[in-house]
Amino acid sequence: MVLPIVKYPNKILRTKGKDLTFPLSPNRRKLIKDMLDTVRKAGGVGLAAPQIGQSLNLIVVNLEHQEVPAFVLINPRIKSSSRKTAEFEEGCLSIPGVFGKLKRPEKITFEAADLTGKKLVLEVDGIVAEVIQHEIDHINGVLIIDKITEYTKGEELLKGVKE
Ligand code: NI
Repeated sequence: MVLPIVKYPNKILRTKGKDLTFPLSPNRRKLIKDMLDTVRKAGGVGLAAPQIGQSLNLIVVNLEHQEVPAFVLINPRIKSSSRKTAEFEEGCLSIPGVFGKLKRPEKITFEAADLTGKKLVLEVDGIVAEVIQHEIDHINGVLIIDKITEYTKGEELLKGVKE
């Protein structure tokens, strides 16, 4: 089921998520499936639970167009980040029409649980690291507009918007 996406400046986008507990309830499993449906339908590369109105530490990543199968990360946390940064141009499904350049660490090591609660620790770089950092920002209440150093599109859409 495709869910409605919460738009900026809704306060839930600034609310920190809570960890999920295991085993996952049928409702939580359904929510994860719905988030995957929603990110695919929206043509997004990632989606975090606050964006569908749930303050939970839950994200999905959808890089199917890059031949990476979509996956879910539960209670994800960044353990370490490279000092070296890379510049990205990003948008956000919750801030439609707004795009800009920002810098993020090029490489991260993160931990997360899978659907069974098994913890994994992975090192990633490139677009996977970019998307995971963007989505982990969401569950910490951080948005791209906090990090953009140069808007490339839609800056005027933010004028007069108050949080
Ligand atoms: Ni976003």
